[in-house]
Amino acid sequence: MRRGRRRIIQPLLRETELRKTDLIAPVFVDESIDAPIPIASMPGQFRHPVDGVVDHCRRLLGGGIRAVILFGIPVEKDSEATAAYASDGVIQRAVREIKNNLRGMAVITDVCACEYTDHGHCGIVGETADGPDLLNDPSLELMERIAVSHAESGADIVAPSCMLDGMVGAIRQALDAAGHTDTLIMSYSSKFASSLYGPFRDAADSGFAFGDRTTYQINPGNAREAVMESELDGAEGADILMVKPAGIYLDILASVKELGLPVAAYQVSGEYAMIKAAAERGWLDERAVALETLIAIKRAGADMIITYYAEDAARWLDEEQ
Ligand code: PBG
Ligand code: ZN
Repeated sequence: MRRGRRRIIQPLLRETELRKTDLIAPVFVDESIDAPIPIASMPGQFRHPVDGVVDHCRRLLGGGIRAVILFGIPVEKDSEATAAYASDGVIQRAVREIKNNLRGMAVITDVCACEYTDHGHCGIVGETADGPDLLNDPSLELMERIAVSHAESGADIVAPSCMLDGMVGAIRQALDAAGHTDTLIMSYSSKFASSLYGPFRDAADSGFAFGDRTTYQINPGNAREAVMESELDGAEGADILMVKPAGIYLDILASVKELGLPVAAYQVSGEYAMIKAAAERGWLDERAVALETLIAIKRAGADMIITYYAEDAARWLDEEQ
């Protein structure tokens, strides 16, 4: 085997290559600010004001990043997430800004209610046999509204992340009925109830007031169930499936890849924060570790990777050429 690892031969035998076009950068848009604010738990990441989003995206595009996924932080929250589908909502405005001022950036929007509800859950909450919880069918209509309003604003891909049963089918039907037949659905199809979302909940102000997300997100030990979730979303019409988090769920990624649809992996806030924290202490080589995690995620089956390292990784890949 070592003949094949001669330095001169290594490039010929490389099986997996990370490309800048594989990377999707998350962008936080805060309706209430007029200058970028750093996110404490995610060094290097910022909340951006609505009118700063185009500049930020232009910089990403200049670095070779061709896709962003937007998260909104609204001024007003209520129990029904009405700000999530307002035509002048934070995401709707941000998408229009990008689409009217920048060419060549694919805009993905996170379709969920947790940043817009006062209780912090991902949809409509009500009383159930087990106490207050996220209600499935009443929340579907809300997701349809959010997705259609994002598409109306110009989103190329909508990404429902609420883990409701039937969400992909409902959104596909609503988009088509509204004439948005070309808008893709990237489903957060295999999304685990992970503790690695902690820094994101600070960043997006989407922590919950009671309970947890284990009645809608998947138990970290459940592989069969996770693959079935992606399979169902594929059958409902998802264009792209997703596994989230990424790095500690590579087995799921490999299984979901087998379903035959394009697969995205989301390297989440906690995965980013762990590398950052160790690197700040001088315990890990940030660049080497970050690139290794991304290549491993690609090797396991990801066609594209949502990562807070997108901008840095694009620059590092350029430097390696
Ligand atoms: C919204 C959403 C979350 C993330 C992406 N979309 C938080 C959650 O489900 O609590 C997490 C992303 C990250 O941690 O980077 N539902
Ligand atoms: Zn949510």
